Amino acid sequence: MGRTGIFSAHSTTVALIWFTSAVLFFFLFQMALHNSTSSSDSSVSKSELRSKLYDKMERDLDEKGAVFLKGGETSQSLSLSDIFTIKDGSVTPVLKAANPPVRANVLYLSTEYSVPIFEAVKSIFDPYFDKAIWFQNSSLYHFSMFHASHHITPIPASNVEIEAEVAAVKSATEHMCRLKIVLDRVILTSTGVLLGCWQYDAAILHTSFARLLGHPKISQTLGRSSDELQLFHELVARLNKQIRGFEAAVSELWYVEEYDVLALALNGRMKVRKFPLGCYSS
Ligand SMILES: *[C@@H]1O[C@H](CO)[C@@H](O)[C@H](O)[C@H]1NC(C)=O
Repeated sequence: MGRTGIFSAHSTTVALIWFTSAVLFFFLFQMALHNSTSSSDSSVSKSELRSKLYDKMERDLDEKGAVFLKGGETSQSLSLSDIFTIKDGSVTPVLKAANPPVRANVLYLSTEYSVPIFEAVKSIFDPYFDKAIWFQNSSLYHFSMFHASHHITPIPASNVEIEAEVAAVKSATEHMCRLKIVLDRVILTSTGVLLGCWQYDAAILHTSFARLLGHPKISQTLGRSSDELQLFHELVARLNKQIRGFEAAVSELWYVEEYDVLALALNGRMKVRKFPLGCYSS
């Protein structure tokens, strides 16, 4: 398989992870609504379920290996996906127009919470990944919930239809309370995505913190092992030690039209409409 093929598979996988997250969120959110008065037994089994799911996601890196490293290297010993390039010595996203624009509903994590996470992620990973890492913009930390149109399954809409969707989202948010969420753990997927796995009651939420794009600078490894996988595990463990259990409140839902593929992740062009979650639980 050529580089392009591998890298397209990568971005497809990233998109699929997001898509799956959204579907899972809705499924579990529905369960939460239906079971909100049920016994503690079922909440135990739900937390077991979540734990099992996250365990499985965690094992993905060991089972599949670091797939993101297997796409060949550039002269900077980078293995970049087709969504990144090196420009003036730094990693730059390659933006591709989304036609029709992607229409996404995302929960927004404010900078009050995202900046401390961003700083922890950066301080731990940056020294080992000179340029071979892309950090999610801390002003745009988000949880993808639902796509009315996605670049994998595009569903064009007229302006009138888009405004109707916006109005529906707005009226829904007026009845939603802000969410208090806890960072259950951070995992690294085999595709190189550093993923924050959060919990909210029975529901699960995911946000990408960073994307690893190439090999770590092994020479700087502190331990005796030069094994890359072990270094990845070590860095993820260090990050977990620092931010696992982090509590945050989500108080905005965004309706986003992404004019570039993965605009929220790659600082692309987009139109954002922000809706506060109107009900404040005391
Ligand atoms: C991060 O996102 C904010 C808000 O969209 C934007 O103003 C800023 O330029 C972005 N930063 C980078 C490095 O692109």
